[in-house]
This record gives sequence, structure tokens and C-alpha cells, in this order.
Amino acid sequence: MNELNRRNFLRVAGAASAGTLLGARLHALAAVQNEPARPVSANDNIQIALIGAGGQGQFDTKVAVQVPGVKLVAVADCYNGRLDHSKEIWGTDTFTTRDYGEILARKDIDAVIIGTPDHWHKQASVDAMKAGKDVYCEKPMIHLYADGPAMIETAHSTGRILQIGSQRVSSVIYAKAKELLAAGAIGQLNMVTARWDRNSATGAWSYTVPPDASTETCDWPRFLGTAPKIPFNAEHFFQWRKWKAYGSGVAGDLFVHLFSGTHFITGSNGPTRGMATGALRFWKDGRDVPDVMLGLFDYREGFNLSLRVNFVDGGEESEGLIFTGSEGTMEIAGNSVSVNRVPREKEPGLMIETFPEAMQKLILEDYRKKYPRPHPEGEPPVGYEKYVAPDGYVDSYDHFRNFFEAVRSRKPVVEDAVFGYRAAGAALLSNLSIDRGTIVHWDPDAMKLA
Ligand SMILES: NC(=O)c1ccc[n+]([C@@H]2O[C@H](COP(=O)([O-])OP(=O)(O)OC[C@H]3O[C@@H](n4cnc5c(N)ncnc54)[C@H](O)[C@@H]3O)[C@@H](O)[C@H]2O)c1
Repeated sequence: MNELNRRNFLRVAGAASAGTLLGARLHALAAVQNEPARPVSANDNIQIALIGAGGQGQFDTKVAVQVPGVKLVAVADCYNGRLDHSKEIWGTDTFTTRDYGEILARKDIDAVIIGTPDHWHKQASVDAMKAGKDVYCEKPMIHLYADGPAMIETAHSTGRILQIGSQRVSSVIYAKAKELLAAGAIGQLNMVTARWDRNSATGAWSYTVPPDASTETCDWPRFLGTAPKIPFNAEHFFQWRKWKAYGSGVAGDLFVHLFSGTHFITGSNGPTRGMATGALRFWKDGRDVPDVMLGLFDYREGFNLSLRVNFVDGGEESEGLIFTGSEGTMEIAGNSVSVNRVPREKEPGLMIETFPEAMQKLILEDYRKKYPRPHPEGEPPVGYEKYVAPDGYVDSYDHFRNFFEAVRSRKPVVEDAVFGYRAAGAALLSNLSIDRGTIVHWDPDAMKLA
């Protein structure tokens, strides 16, 4: 183990007790996720509210309240069933409403988590910041390009904290990957390939519509917001990702995580141009977005990014990123990051088999004078290292801890509005490219379509 590893990481015990497995070196990543609740006085609590209490909003809030000194007091949602369930989870004294304006008007709420569909992210965030609340807004930060500048400007002018919810940016795995890349573990980065494949109905966003869904139980006009006015449609309400009016397709749902991870690890502001192809291949259930999408992106830092989402995949759900450099590859998969170091050939090599034997001998003797063998024959030039997060590691916890530390200290968060716009703006280039049938240019510094 080199100095870098020894300082920050523990060896894995148990099955790979010697720290080796078929020549691989395994390391356990350190993470502190069970902090002893430090004494917090009642008025030192951060009081939060949830806006949009569906799948991710409920998950986020369950994680957020595990951070010491954080208390949920109110929930806003457009479906009665989710307000009822919020009381079941967080207690009957939880204030619930369909109108998030009532939450923003309360002085006892410091921060809000926004887990609405994408088309509400900008408005809910801007309203909350203008009402003096700090905001944790789910990814993708934007639904439309115009959302980005509005959210950045409001965070700036109000001085509120805005954290975007691509939680991998706070993961110990991604932090390790960033450190490894910067330390030259794979040499010079030249390509990133990333994928997110799914083969199930729920993976393809066919979420359950509850039997009581109606205009009585669902606040349809509020759900629609600025989306085109159409009669109540329960599938649109509960499976909104399938329609551009509310979601951003696989690009906004999944590419954005891969962009956030790539930008965090490489330190890049984003691609300068992108092109994508995609189509609706299998889930022809009325949706208006592709279920297969492939995107290609150029980075000024000297690498290319290739992304894939495939909901028609015949295998298991799989998500991962592979960073390919001049001296090896680094892969993020599941709860680990591994490096396969393949030092670059220092010799030009020989192709001499087709020449007469005497000439082969001559060339070889001459070659060995110029390039004496650095290692004894047979020594493997490969170095494989794997870093594994602790069992049950939850990156969202670290993302919320980062957010609440910023709420207390007023120091910047790890994923502010600028980072969030650069990731989501890059992701949505794919949709634009497919719509226009062209390569799309983007200025990642100015965050403008070129
Ligand atoms: N970070 C992640 O890994 C991750 C994972 C899943 C989802 N998400 C994001 O979280 C967001 C929500 O996704 P989801 O799967 O939880 O969707 P969902 O449909 O399960 O929940 C959305 C909820 O928002 C409510 N809502 C809609 N408009 C509202 C409004 N104006 N005011 C209050 N509530 C409103 C709906 O009634 C619904 O209950 C999306 O932006 C999605 O991209 C992030």
C-alpha cells in the first residue's frame, strides 16, 4: 500500500485478510455515518420541510433527519395519500398541506427539501430562497435551460444555500476516484464511458398508480403548474418521467448523475459539444421520450465522454463509469472504485517474425542494447487496487451532512447551483441534439448554448 492509501484508508480484513485477492489489493474506505448525536439545544435544531413527498422526497427526508440536529416539521404534496403517509412516518403533529406557500410563510422553517418533478424545481427553489429558506433541490437542477440562470441568480441575490441532489458528489467512492485520478493512478485521462441500463417496468418508470387517484385526491392544477393544461391523467401524475412536459427523459433522470460524477472527479466544468442518438424501442406505452439513448461529448481537458442508457437491456440493472487513461483504467461500480494500472510500454516493440532468422537475431541483439529489460521475465506489469465503501454506506447521508453543515456555517456546499447547472445543462444537450438532429455546442464556463 502506498503512502496515500495508508494515511487515509484501512485494509480489508476477513476473506481477503492479507489485503490481497488474486493479486488485487483491497482497501476499505473510511466513512463516518453513525455519529453520536451531539447535544443540540431545541433552538439549535435545523427545522426542515419537504416539498414533494414522493419516492425520492421521502427517502431524502428519512436520511436528512438522521443528521444530528435536524427535525422535519412540515410536508407539502399534491396527493393526499403522500401527505397521509408522511404523518405515518414522521408523526401526526407533522404539518401537511397541498400548498407549499403555506410552508414558506412559516418562520420556524429554516430549510426545505424539494422532491417535486423536474418542472417544479426552479419555481419551488426560487420561491423558497426568496422566502429566506435554504434549499436542497433534487437533480436534475433544471427542466429548461432558462431555469439555470434564474436559480443561480436567486441563490446569489438572496444569499441562501442551494445544494443540488446528485448525492454521488459527496460519496467516499467518488472522493477516492478523484484523488486517484489526480495522483496519476491511470496516467493521462483520455476517455470516460458510463452506462445506466435497466430491464424492468419500474426501472423504466412504470410506477404504481394508486387506486384512489382522482381529482379529489390529487391537486391536478397545482401538479401541472406551468405544464400544458390537459384533463386529469393519473399516469401523467404518478409516472411523470415519461413525458417531456414534466421530466427531462433519461438524460435528465440518469445522464445527469453520470455528468455530476464525471465533473466532480475530473474537476471539469463540462463538455464543449455533444451529440446523441436515441429512440423509443420497447416501452411504447404512450411516453414521448426515448428508452434507449447514446451520447458523445468532447471535453477541453483532453478526454471524450460516452454515455448510454438502455431500458430495453436483457441483463441486470447496471450503472457504472470507466475512466481510461494512458496507464490504465479506473472503474466505479456498485460500492467500489478499482484501478487497473497498466504502465505504458516504454519500448517501441518489434515485428520481425517475417524476416530471415539471422536478421531477426541481429535486430534483436541491437534492440536489447538499446532497451535492456527493466524487469526479470514474467514479472506482471499490472497493478490492481480496489477501494470498497463500508457495508450499508449511504452517500445521501454525506450529501445531507454537507448541506446542513453549510446551513450552519454559511460556507459553500459541494454541489451548488453552478455545479448543478453545469451537470444538468450538459445532460440536456442530448435531448437537444436528438430534437435538432445535430451536434450541439455548449460553453461550459459561461453555461450558455453556443
Ligand atoms: N438523487 C437521486 O438519486 C434521485 C432518485 C430519484 C428521484 N430523484 C429526483 O427527485 C424528484 C422526484 O422524483 P420522485 O421519483 O420522488 O417522483 P414522485 O412522483 O415519486 O414524487 C414527486 C412528488 O411531488 C409532488 N408534487 C408535484 N408537484 C408539486 C408541487 N407543486 N408542490 C408540492 N408537491 C408537488 C407529487 O404529488 C409527488 O408526490 C425528481 O426530480 C427526480 O429526478 C432523484
